[in-house]
Amino acid sequence: MNSSTKLLLDTLGNKKTPRMPFWFMRQAGRYLPEYRELRSRSKNFLEFCYTPTDASKATLQPIRRFGMDGAIIFSDILVVPHALGADVRFEEGHGPLLKPVQTMGDLDAFGMEGLNKKLSPVYEALKLTAAALPSETTLIGFAGAPWTLACYMVQGKAARDFEMVRSHAITQRSFFTRLMTLLTEAVTRHAINQIKAGAEVIQIFDSWAGNLSEEQFAEWVIAPTKQIVKDIKKAHPTIPIIGFPRLAGSKYVEYAKQTGVDAVTIDTSVSLAFAREALQPICVVQGNLDPLLLANDKDAMLTQAKRIISTLGDKPFVFNLGHGILPHTPVENMQALCQLLKNSSVNA
Ligand code: CP3
Repeated sequence: MNSSTKLLLDTLGNKKTPRMPFWFMRQAGRYLPEYRELRSRSKNFLEFCYTPTDASKATLQPIRRFGMDGAIIFSDILVVPHALGADVRFEEGHGPLLKPVQTMGDLDAFGMEGLNKKLSPVYEALKLTAAALPSETTLIGFAGAPWTLACYMVQGKAARDFEMVRSHAITQRSFFTRLMTLLTEAVTRHAINQIKAGAEVIQIFDSWAGNLSEEQFAEWVIAPTKQIVKDIKKAHPTIPIIGFPRLAGSKYVEYAKQTGVDAVTIDTSVSLAFAREALQPICVVQGNLDPLLLANDKDAMLTQAKRIISTLGDKPFVFNLGHGILPHTPVENMQALCQLLKNSSVNA
């Protein structure tokens, strides 16, 4: 088979395909028994991410079981701050913990020098995965967007709305601008390195894009993403880029118009009518089944999946969730969803 048989790549290139492609955010992870088994052999999560054979095996597990059209490389958005010099840890039950970065002095210790070398296991994992994937499956690389990475770096951990980070962006302007410039460059470099190692698509996760005012959204979400897209496209013009400004609401429109991304991932709160009327005329749309429905109610989940397919499926559309798969999701529900998607043909 040649690349023209890759449903995901074709759809992201705005082409009609015989069937709608699908993959899921966090498709490798704790809901899979084979992942829990593999993961239990490593002491810590970052070490697991930086072991190319493990990262590649974890990437392939859901593909072998369910046959998604896209395989997202197993890694984390926080490997970029880590490679820049941040102190990053993952503690069981706490999520990520970072030593907060809040002053110009804190930033002096950061630099781009070590990035390629520190992240070389991620690139190695991509190479191993590219060689092992079925020819019809598209390999997806990813990075966190600068705003979301800055949220974790300045706050030091997950927070409800990152209010402290938002005020830092206002009161410590030169510090914050310097941090965002550094992250914009690092994310671009990491994406380009992933493409060189075999990634055929890049998704940019801006998980905390939804907590900004219109003006801050333009400055800290749209502008850096636009720069990243421009610089990736300069080096690799044909690689599709998917942006995920989670919870951006009506601001999805300006994001889709201005950043230059080929597709947007819509979160679960985006109405299908809005996606159809306001977004599909601008770019390819991907999303947005509720991960809570997938985890908790198989019948309601299948009904909603059919609604998504019938509302958005007559344009180039990628079926996905509105956020990552939850750890308590029954494998059986995932199986039922994949079965439905494999059997759904687009006949518009
Ligand atoms: O999608 C995939 O299958 C690829 C792997 C992937 C992970 N993290 C693995 C992971 C991807 C794409 C990410 C992205 C990521 N990481 C985001 C953006 C998407 C989102 O969820 O908003 C964010 C914000 C992070 C940061 C992060 N990493 C958090 C907040 C946590 C803790 C939450 C949790 O689920 O425990 C992580 C840890 C993490 N990253 C795990 C996995 C599988 C769980 C740790 C484990 O399995 O041991």
